Amino acid sequence: MKKRFLGNSNLEVSALGLGCMGLSHGYGPATDKHQAIELLRAAVERGVTFFDTAEVYGPFLNEEVVGEALKPFRDRVVIATKFGFNCSNENKQQLLNSRPEHIREAVEGSLRRLKTDVIDLLYQHRVDPDVPIEDVAGTIKDLISEGKVKYFGLSEASAQTIRRAHAIQPVTALQSEYSLWWREPEDEILPVLEELGIGFVPFSPLGKGFLTGAINANTTFNDDDFRSKVPRFNAEALEANEQLVTLLADLASQKGVTSAQIALAWLLAQKPWIVPIPGTTKLHRLEENLNAVDVTLTDNDLQKIAHALETVKIVGERYPAALQALINR
Ligand SMILES: NC(=O)c1ccc[n+]([C@@H]2O[C@H](COP(=O)([O-])OP(=O)(O)OC[C@H]3O[C@@H](n4cnc5c(N)ncnc54)[C@H](OP(=O)(O)O)[C@@H]3O)[C@@H](O)[C@H]2O)c1
Repeated sequence: MKKRFLGNSNLEVSALGLGCMGLSHGYGPATDKHQAIELLRAAVERGVTFFDTAEVYGPFLNEEVVGEALKPFRDRVVIATKFGFNCSNENKQQLLNSRPEHIREAVEGSLRRLKTDVIDLLYQHRVDPDVPIEDVAGTIKDLISEGKVKYFGLSEASAQTIRRAHAIQPVTALQSEYSLWWREPEDEILPVLEELGIGFVPFSPLGKGFLTGAINANTTFNDDDFRSKVPRFNAEALEANEQLVTLLADLASQKGVTSAQIALAWLLAQKPWIVPIPGTTKLHRLEENLNAVDVTLTDNDLQKIAHALETVKIVGERYPAALQALINR
């Protein structure tokens, strides 16, 4: 497996990580624990050294599964987790919480569930408008000096927030959505990351499954699947957006690869400090996705993709309004 450094840091990880969320959260019922552990260990065997989880996935369940699966390989893998939501039931009104004391509580819980004494990469999951980012970065700085955390990350933070945080405690990675059907980070975010030497970890790199071609206008999602509430996944939007999938499938078949591999190879081709974290619950898809590190897109391929993207207008918001409101812009 090829490796990459996250920005200018000395944090080296496999060029593709594994997004673990879908094993417990977001896309329907949780995968059976033993099967989930098998999949995570299969990823380690195939060279994946970068695993992404969060306190809120489950909540808690995903960190537990990840912790148990990776315990025997702890010294060989980088575990990233996230804080920033109120995960217990008592405070449902206020969804976000990055108050310093809450960060500390979350970290203690994550360390316990991940069965480790240090979190390699700790992200703030969403920027909390009620807590200055300087206080968050200062708290992480203290946790790093106490040896509980190694590196600091942000998720869906604006360019200005990234700069403010970085001035207090260097940010190693930003994790935000980026893929062939969500390219907003190209405008302001990628230039700031490049300037400051921060790595980029695109989440939902397969467009939550859409870019792979496995979903079409006839696909329906159960209520416990988050995509049932995402405007971009309603039947009308899916039908309109299918044009992109067709273009990708054509290019994939010309190159003898799959659409998922094109989607991942395209992200890897954007910058050498980008490390996507596709998620899957299935071994054959894990293998398919990991093989994308060996798919080289030529300048001609990249031009064809750029041209295809210009001809397609993506329909539908990427989040329902309530979740869109949590994005820091
Ligand atoms: N920071 C944040 O706010 C945030 C938000 C969302 C996600 N994330 C992280 O990013 C990770 C990845 O994002 P994601 O899971 O939302 O989206 P994704 O990786 O773009 O897509 C995952 C979906 O694609 C399907 N899939 C995967 N490989 C496939 C293949 N080769 N062919 C066909 N279908 C395939 C999976 O289904 P199967 O399981 O059936 O294969 C799953 O439904 C998450 O696991 C999580 O760790 C972070």
